[in-house]
Amino acid sequence: MTAIPGDEMSKPWIGTSWKMTKRLSEAVAYAEALAGLAAHFAHLTNSFVLPAFPLIESVARVLRPAGVSVGAQNVHWMPSGAFTGEVSAPMLIDVGASIVAIGHAERRAMFGETDQTVRDKVGAALASGLRTLVCVGESVKIALGGLTVTDLAGVLVAYEPVWAIGEGSTPATPAQANDMHGQIRAAIAHLFGGAGTAVPLLYGGSVTRDGAPALIAQDQIDGLFVGRAAWTVEGFAAIARTVAETGGRVS
Ligand code: PGA
Repeated sequence: MTAIPGDEMSKPWIGTSWKMTKRLSEAVAYAEALAGLAAHFAHLTNSFVLPAFPLIESVARVLRPAGVSVGAQNVHWMPSGAFTGEVSAPMLIDVGASIVAIGHAERRAMFGETDQTVRDKVGAALASGLRTLVCVGESVKIALGGLTVTDLAGVLVAYEPVWAIGEGSTPATPAQANDMHGQIRAAIAHLFGGAGTAVPLLYGGSVTRDGAPALIAQDQIDGLFVGRAAWTVEGFAAIARTVAETGGRVS
């Protein structure tokens, strides 16, 4: 896929994972407030919110009509079966998800996620029609093996250095992040040829309201994937407006 300026994929990306935060009432209140603010950014960005599994349906009901996509933080690689505690891609689609993050550093560090499971999950998610946000870290193991150029149209990559994620961490500098994005883009292009250069690359790891403008202004950064700073509606909306106003790789 070639990014055509003005088409959906070439709009800048802004998303948050709520991780394991928010009870149902908090989730719905956030969604309703964000829907009320979406006119400021939704048409100029590709925006998404990734709640915990039990919240997806309620949040999607509110945010999808406002132009904000909703998705999951993980998925299993099989469509159904005896896999206690797991959730499949078709199940996610049934409750309104259109995107899924796969291979987040916390899942790799705490829940045994490997490049192999990431690869299997990416394949299953794409086969079901979910857009996949593949999270990669410093090692830049991209886990895109086995995909075709056609599959790539549904793939986003988030570069999230492990040392930059979570409480007490510091974000990559805009120049560091831009440099890594350039290297990741080259690696994907090496695997898939010219189509690889169009895969949107999001930066994640201690993004803040103050730090967002310089990050999204970088020419290799197509979007931001935000944790803590977007767990308030005001935080998400402020960063989304910045992304809408500043963002977008022109290529
Ligand atoms: P953080 O999380 O913004 O809270 O550092 C980023 C992430 O885990 O994606």
